[in-house]
Amino acid sequence: MPKIRFAKGRPEIEVPIGSNLMKCLTDNEIPVASSCGGEGVCTKCLLTIVEGKENLSPPNETENDLRDIHDFARNERVSCQTEVLGDIKIDAGYW
Ligand code: FES
Repeated sequence: MPKIRFAKGRPEIEVPIGSNLMKCLTDNEIPVASSCGGEGVCTKCLLTIVEGKENLSPPNETENDLRDIHDFARNERVSCQTEVLGDIKIDAGYW
């Protein structure tokens, strides 16, 4: 199972391959900002991918549309629109 490691101070977790990134974090009681509930509207769930960006699903149409509208960095992903396919290391400013 893929491992998710954290840049700051949290123990790593293991999640089933193909897990939705935002959902598997919240299922593990790790808070992820959101005001749209994972509908791919708000971009508050953006997470920084510190390592392993190649181990995430490619951006879907919703994420690409959000990227066209909002200015977020290449190492940031819309976590509610992203699947975990392998080991990653992530961070959020509010963790
Ligand atoms: S939670 Fe709103 S875009 Fe992901």
